[in-house]
Amino acid sequence: MSEHDTPAHSRNTLTLLEAMDQEGNGIDRPGLHASQGELPENETFGDVLARSMARRAFLLGAAASVPVLMAGATLLPSAAEAATKDGLNFKPISPSTLDEVVVPVDYFHEVVVKWGDPLFPGAPAFNFKNQTAAAQKQQFGYNSDFLGYFQLNGSNRALLAVNHEYTSGTEMFRNYVPGAKKEETDIEIAAHGGSVVELVRDYSGWRYVKNSKYNRRITGDTPMIITGPAAGHKLMKTKADRSGKHVLGMLNNCSGGKTPWGTWLTCEENFNQYFANNDQTADADVKAAHARYGVSGGATFRLWEKFYDRFDCSKEPNEAFRFGWVVEIDPYNPNFVPRKRTALGRCKHEAATMALANDGRAVVYSGDDERFDYVYKFVSRDRYNPGNRADNFDLLDHGTLYVAKFRDDNTGVWIPLTITHPKLQGKFADQGEILMKTRLAADAVGATAMDRPEDCQPNPVNGKVYLTMTNNSKRTSVVPDAGSALANPRVPNYNGHIIELTEGGNDHGSTKFRWEIFLLAGDPKVDLKTNKADLTPGLPSNTTFFAGYADADKLGKVSCPDNIAFDSRGNLWIATDGQPESVDIGMPNDAIHAVPTAGPDRGYLRQFLSGPKGCEICGPEFSSDETTLFCAVQHPGEGGGVPNQISNWPDRGIFTRPGVVAVRHRDSRKIGG
Ligand code: FEO
Ligand code: CA
Ligand code: CA
Ligand code: CA
Repeated sequence: MSEHDTPAHSRNTLTLLEAMDQEGNGIDRPGLHASQGELPENETFGDVLARSMARRAFLLGAAASVPVLMAGATLLPSAAEAATKDGLNFKPISPSTLDEVVVPVDYFHEVVVKWGDPLFPGAPAFNFKNQTAAAQKQQFGYNSDFLGYFQLNGSNRALLAVNHEYTSGTEMFRNYVPGAKKEETDIEIAAHGGSVVELVRDYSGWRYVKNSKYNRRITGDTPMIITGPAAGHKLMKTKADRSGKHVLGMLNNCSGGKTPWGTWLTCEENFNQYFANNDQTADADVKAAHARYGVSGGATFRLWEKFYDRFDCSKEPNEAFRFGWVVEIDPYNPNFVPRKRTALGRCKHEAATMALANDGRAVVYSGDDERFDYVYKFVSRDRYNPGNRADNFDLLDHGTLYVAKFRDDNTGVWIPLTITHPKLQGKFADQGEILMKTRLAADAVGATAMDRPEDCQPNPVNGKVYLTMTNNSKRTSVVPDAGSALANPRVPNYNGHIIELTEGGNDHGSTKFRWEIFLLAGDPKVDLKTNKADLTPGLPSNTTFFAGYADADKLGKVSCPDNIAFDSRGNLWIATDGQPESVDIGMPNDAIHAVPTAGPDRGYLRQFLSGPKGCEICGPEFSSDETTLFCAVQHPGEGGGVPNQISNWPDRGIFTRPGVVAVRHRDSRKIGG
């Protein structure tokens, strides 16, 4: 341990130590010692959290009735500030087909960390031709998606929590043949999961700290605990885990969120693609549940089941129930055992973003990314305690899961998925089964089938929640579901849309809401509507709406909104996934666009960034001072395969290395400011 990491004996140290101790994670661990050294005199852990979380919406709720993390922190702009600063000030870029990251004039970007970068002392440098699972476990993983910025001491040091969603063997290995080499399967399992990486910013820019004590790899076989109402359920038990409370790994972690107590929520999305042979699942109910989640009847395309029985439903039918959860991880403690929080339900969670109800309960919004699936929110039983970090570590284990029903009169309700619901009684044995089969419960109560719900983000200025529907080429009729046709008005929906949801009484804890369409993505020059009254069910796929903004010549075109973020002025930043595949607007590479949500420029969308070929852009995440926008370049060049890559970003070799990019202004201005 270096001198730098010597524990400091300040009240700040005690705050953190007490928190860890009460949370039950032991206190004499190397990672904690590293943590202790980071907290300067006269600064509490709450101070650090308050700054790093300032732009998040839970603070809006907190401001009303709950003591905010600490006195004196600047958390929200005043109404007057918000009204005068709602514009965006950058010269938009044109859509690009270059194999480059492109940003506006006066901005620049740097690659901060990428697949294979060594994270620990003694970790080998990346060697494409000599990959091993042992090396990958010590290196940054593949295909980054969610990025969570967790501030350390000052604005120049932070932890970045990063999801590694999935692997693509054809881009990772030369002449890849699925199932041919066990070592390649083991490398892929090790390249999944997530990373925590310390970042520093100095005169030369952002870089990752190779040997930081905070650095961590979480993989497809890292031990985790299952918590909440479904922990220990009989359907959760396997040959390897008779308790139903312990699982190895997290898979397909797409996006996520951050909590006010400084933890990382990372979401298992398309977990079904790792489990094979559901046709041979003996129990008919288990088989039907797996089928509803898309588990394959036969082989998977990765063939991990060839080497590991747990991925084969014919041998281990319950293992798939142990995936599809929101996982909570403390990024400040490298020894924290990740928790799969079953109270938040099981689906293909895109993200899990947090707000606070007016009475202080924790609220988590989450979309289930599948055509005709649903939007959920969880409301905790207990209140967030800003005064004691440890008190909050079990908050997400007790509460109520709701699913959204949209109505055509622009109202909606959150339907509780509880065992006392008349439509669930008799169909499910207990609350644990409802949570493990969340989709089936939501089907039974008549939730509204949406156009692939992706991110759900509260706006820190107006408190409204923005829901991205990325697209739905299979919506072929006006009313295919029990709920609203207006909430998914296009038939088909190639370019996606964004819904603006206002909770009853502006309270995230409400069970009622109002909603309207904020954006119908596409090419505004084709068929731009400027009036909400024009938005009737059954709109053609090329109809667009940009929150009423009328000047089609100024607007950028956009398709397939996926991850979104807000700056502290309430401007919405939209990362896209699938623009190039959009069939009717010929959009080049995936991108980041920015759009004000208030004022005269509400709806005025402009492109800020373009990714290299074949990638999607993920993340977007601001540094706490908003002078940096981080984003992930995921699966650049996907589809070609080594040695026929369609991208060679960023190293210009024969392979690509998905990674994380930091964008800044030359004069260190706030992004878009
Ligand atoms: Fe992994 Fe819903 O995108
Ligand atoms: Ca992704
Ligand atoms: Ca996504
Ligand atoms: Ca997506």
